[in-house]
Amino acid sequence: MQPLQSLRIGAILLWGLGVVVYGDTECPPKPYRVVCYLASWSNYREGSGAFNISYIVPDHCTHLVYTFAGLNIGGGIDSLDYYNDINVNKGYSKIVALKEENPCLKVLLAIGGWNEGSEKYSLMAEREATREAFADQTLRYLVHYGFDGLDIDWEYPTMRGGIPEDRENFVLLVQSLRARFAPRKKLLTAAVSASKQILQDGYDLPRLCEELDFINLMTYDYSSNVKATLDAPLYGDSSTGETIDTTIAYITKTGCPMGKFSLGITTHAKTYTVAPNRLMAPGINAVGPGQPGPFTRSAGSLGYNELCEMLKPNRTAPSQWVVKSLAQNAVKYAYRDDQWMTFDGIETIGTKVKYAMDKKLGGIMFWTIDTDDFQGDCHSEAYPLLQTALRMLGYVKKVAQQRGQHPAIGHRSTVAATSTPVPVPVDQPVQATPEREYEQQVLVVKGNPSEEKLNDEIRKAIRALLGPEQSDQVQIRELKNEDELRRIAPGARPIGVRLVS
Ligand SMILES: *[C@@H]1O[C@H](CO)[C@@H](O)[C@H](O)[C@H]1NC(C)=O
Ligand SMILES: *[C@@H]1O[C@H](CO)[C@@H](O)[C@H](O)[C@H]1NC(C)=O
Repeated sequence: MQPLQSLRIGAILLWGLGVVVYGDTECPPKPYRVVCYLASWSNYREGSGAFNISYIVPDHCTHLVYTFAGLNIGGGIDSLDYYNDINVNKGYSKIVALKEENPCLKVLLAIGGWNEGSEKYSLMAEREATREAFADQTLRYLVHYGFDGLDIDWEYPTMRGGIPEDRENFVLLVQSLRARFAPRKKLLTAAVSASKQILQDGYDLPRLCEELDFINLMTYDYSSNVKATLDAPLYGDSSTGETIDTTIAYITKTGCPMGKFSLGITTHAKTYTVAPNRLMAPGINAVGPGQPGPFTRSAGSLGYNELCEMLKPNRTAPSQWVVKSLAQNAVKYAYRDDQWMTFDGIETIGTKVKYAMDKKLGGIMFWTIDTDDFQGDCHSEAYPLLQTALRMLGYVKKVAQQRGQHPAIGHRSTVAATSTPVPVPVDQPVQATPEREYEQQVLVVKGNPSEEKLNDEIRKAIRALLGPEQSDQVQIRELKNEDELRRIAPGARPIGVRLVS
């Protein structure tokens, strides 16, 4: 046998019903979008909180959105971090490369975000010449880096340094972009605030709906800064009197097709420092933001991957976290001493996804996938929040109750190598655990022959293993390395390894 690096690994994926044909250029429409935002700076985080684009499972999401590009002095789209996006870490090309593993995946670039503010965008959108120049340069930028579209995250038209005319100018900007994008089939989307006031003042939704492929609702940030309040309540009380349900009710009245909207779900907790009080219920006064977490290091918020670790019971700690689940609001909160947080967990996300389906929205949006528990440290699976949503949408049929389903896990020494579906270095069938049911089985074939011969050998091996009838349903895919196999078939059961020479 040759060293692994020089081997080609062929994999045979045996799928159950609902077969997906890899490599097929036809992408059957999925009933719901799953729009996943990536905070591109997440790879700068500490320790096991540092994210890597290679941890993304390319068929978890229908759309990936890379955040954020900005607006440069010339009024064009530009990277805000050349080191990370282009020159050294090559974030752009790495995220776009995920399409090779899932040709149906759409990868968009987002422009804007909170830190970019509003004033630059207001100025650019103000005149036809600058709008047209932006549309033209943006299209060339997207094509150059291989993105499928643009997501506009102007926060927000008419506010934060904007002018009242932004509402109209935003529509004109979107029209310019649409006109440039349409012949090239580039997607055009936007993220909008969930606040009724901001929606009314900043967005002419009926006209935006006509131009945009879809709109991501940032249905969180309902909390107040002066009181510790719920950040993303589905129903009930919030500091503003608004909830996800009142936002959706408002959207319904605009006359836009509900399928245009994706319901935003956040993997970030909002945190407060409070004056400890016997009554730690929502509404108590905040004295400041909560303490920063070990990964995100930002006062006032925590990633789910940070908080789920913190909330684990700890017998040696002097005091314990109290976690409350408000089923009627579909939100959770937790407190210990002077720290208080509002967040979404497994159950509340399940409720919200079901709500999105009941309201006939076009899908869901995750802000952000890099703060989900991508290491699988808390609930015995990687990406527990995203997986919960995928199960609710019917995209994941069964749970493989084991760790190590995901490449993100591979670099953690705590995970046994045997739990991954990766090639086992013997030419014997692998012992399967009988009580587990899996969606996929995978026969790994290692070898270094010509491509044709490899396929021939694989076909023979399948027929021998499964008989002629079942072997017809088998998908063959040649893979460059083991990582790729783990990504396309996380949780798959190895049914054997054959060597072909
Ligand atoms: C990200 O993952 C890739 C592939 O596994 C690896 O080569 C690279 O060094 C990682 N990058 C960082 C910043 O850890
Ligand atoms: C448990 O609490 C102790 C005391 O506060 C702390 O030193 C330790 O790091 C905690 N353990 C974990 C796993 O968080």
